[in-house]
Amino acid sequence: MGKISVGLNKVDQISVEKDYFNFKSDNGFGAIKFYRDSVVNVRISRDKIPKKSPSFAVIQKPEKIKPSYVQDEGSLSLESHKIRLELNLKNACLSFFDKNSKLISRDALSTRWTGTEVTVCKELMQDEKFVGLGEKTGPLNRRGNAYVNWNTDKFGYAVDEDPLYLSTPFYIGIHNGLVYGIFVDNSHKTTFNFGASTDRFSWFSAEDGLMNYYFIYGNTVADIIEDYTWLTGRMKLPPLWSLGFQQCRYSYYPDSEIYQLAQTFREKKIPCDVLYLDIHYMQDYKAFTFHEERFPEPAKMIAHIRESGFKTAVILDPGIKVEKGYPPYDSGISEEVFVKYPDGENYTGEVWPGKSHFPDFTAAKVRKWWQRLLPFYADLGIKGFWNDMNEPAAWGQCLPNFLEFDFEGQKTTHREARNVYGMQMARATAEGVHSCNPSERPFVLTRAGFSGIQRFSAVWTGDNVSSDEHLMAGVRLVNSLGLTGISFCGNDAGGFVGEASPELYARWISVAAFQPFFRAHSNVNTRDAEPWSFGEIVEQIARNYIGLRYKLMPLIYSLMRESSVNGMPLCRSFVFEHPHHENTYREEFQHQFFMGRDLMVCPLESAEKFLKIWLPPGLWFNFWTGEELKGDREIIVEAPLWKLPVFVRAGALIPMQELSQHLDEKPKSLILHVYGKGSSTFSFYQDDGASYNYENKDYKLREIVLQENSLLLNKSIGNYPSELRDIKIIFHGISPENIKVNGLGLKTEKVRNRFVEPVYSIDTFSEDKGRDMYEENLTQITLDYSDDEMMIKW
Ligand code: NOJ
Repeated sequence: MGKISVGLNKVDQISVEKDYFNFKSDNGFGAIKFYRDSVVNVRISRDKIPKKSPSFAVIQKPEKIKPSYVQDEGSLSLESHKIRLELNLKNACLSFFDKNSKLISRDALSTRWTGTEVTVCKELMQDEKFVGLGEKTGPLNRRGNAYVNWNTDKFGYAVDEDPLYLSTPFYIGIHNGLVYGIFVDNSHKTTFNFGASTDRFSWFSAEDGLMNYYFIYGNTVADIIEDYTWLTGRMKLPPLWSLGFQQCRYSYYPDSEIYQLAQTFREKKIPCDVLYLDIHYMQDYKAFTFHEERFPEPAKMIAHIRESGFKTAVILDPGIKVEKGYPPYDSGISEEVFVKYPDGENYTGEVWPGKSHFPDFTAAKVRKWWQRLLPFYADLGIKGFWNDMNEPAAWGQCLPNFLEFDFEGQKTTHREARNVYGMQMARATAEGVHSCNPSERPFVLTRAGFSGIQRFSAVWTGDNVSSDEHLMAGVRLVNSLGLTGISFCGNDAGGFVGEASPELYARWISVAAFQPFFRAHSNVNTRDAEPWSFGEIVEQIARNYIGLRYKLMPLIYSLMRESSVNGMPLCRSFVFEHPHHENTYREEFQHQFFMGRDLMVCPLESAEKFLKIWLPPGLWFNFWTGEELKGDREIIVEAPLWKLPVFVRAGALIPMQELSQHLDEKPKSLILHVYGKGSSTFSFYQDDGASYNYENKDYKLREIVLQENSLLLNKSIGNYPSELRDIKIIFHGISPENIKVNGLGLKTEKVRNRFVEPVYSIDTFSEDKGRDMYEENLTQITLDYSDDEMMIKW
């Protein structure tokens, strides 16, 4: 191997085998295969390319489509119904066009190798923007920056630090009215450079292995995500309770603290569904043990808090303490489950329990072994499994690269296995928990992962910091994870490292209430950080926003279902709707996000009392006051601590329910907020929130259609018997009189609507805060619940 790079060059051979297009060039080989009209797979290697390339990420088989191809002297042109790809026979460069021959992307140099490292260079298009790459710090538009994918334990990371815990080598490019995606299915360390050091091209490289990428083209960002999650899989519907508020700290112990915590949540009427046990629950930090003095009767404690509606989640790290007589160690040794040095000795690294071995989760037999250990927890009634330290982390970091992994029988080293290790641990946990309780949906939370992790687990963004810049970085991280198929994600609300000020905690809880995974967590040896630990006012603010989260559950659950069907994330930055608009990427507006399609949340730092926001084109309502606002302009809004700026689009349908303290309490009313002066369709979804029965039609799905003078609740589809007794419809922005339901007149009432309560101050001279957060004189109708079609006209 020479010292300078070599690249593909003149193409001297082309062969077509069924619908695989293979070519040979001076320095390597290529294979092109359409997976569907909008997805084409490109594989490039120095060696002959195998028929199949096994993948941990891609679970999809190619559809049977027949691209046409034409070869002339200079090029091979392949065409599906959506993409035309051209291979230049002189230099092996690839160009991708849409059906109108508009250039989407083009190699700037041919694919090349520098040692084992393989690099693809794409022409940087004028004004091209780049979004995605999942858990990456930095701005929404990644142009001008470079990123590395190498799962890394980064305690208290900086808001511009890279890499973090999880890798998804997938980005979306946007230019000239076009959007496309590129997913690089290679788990080695990869680098993506969007013009950081050169403006000649953007490039991506993998340290070794096959250059195996998927080029995706669609009309919208949503189309691209649809295809990406078609390839790498979608989140299964999580248990409903996992969408509730979750309280964690490092660590609650002994058990009396858990009893107290559960009681306080209920006494203070702050909704909550999950309490966490961090590492101190274990005996000497050994997985699959309980500390004998701190938690002498775990089953009793878990059952007790279960009675008041709490699920217990435990942390479960991969490191298994090296200690003869400790059952997971003994069985791990005898079944040969641990990662090895090349001489066959088990790798030892140090983590919480001291010297530890690491199960090789890339082997099916090891995942089975792990599965056999899990009844230890499941039999105690534990429902949540939190996989931490699974990059994998070991003190000192920097594991030797020659460590050996099974990699589904392909045998490889740490270089290729590291990035998928955490995902395979989460998979082993999800599959194991499922086998313990086959009729229940498991809840797994992971720190590390790779593309496709959404199939097994929710994700949180690790050890963030209690600071305003982290609050905002967390918003960008969640939005970016959503752009790479990971819908169910969140960050430690309040911040993990350090201590939040009361104002910061209040703001963070308000914002996080609108994000998919909603958990407060804090580091060992820091101040108390429960919702009531920051004073009376903050407690009320936290109660308000956590409560609002529970009221919004019909919206959230329906959106999670949508995500499980088409990959659309719950939290969506402007890039979904306005990918070509400058404002989408402006520093001051890039944090604004939508929960679903119509509810726009505008996060801001704790000390800010005013915020400049961008109201996109259209008509909007202030969520709290109903004030009508014309869009397509920038406005300054007032944002005292108790009032997070939130807006609703005219024509929106926002299904809500009455306040509950936890999600096992079943709602009696569907409260449908209808925002007039526009139209939309919403798919309202219900099921038992716990089992897989929905896979056998045991759900209820109802399409709701709003038009100028009517609201149609289509007949419900599915067999799930809804618990709802009535449907209340509250009209905002319009005051319909003479409402008829299926032709019959119906009595209307006038109501005052408040989504949150005013925040009282014990200082008798000060005003109650948030008194203006209501709407008066709204028209409301109440209908008995029915699954039949209801046509409501006014
Ligand atoms: C690191 C995790 O990121 C953090 O959330 C956890 O509290 C500690 N490990 C202790 O388990």
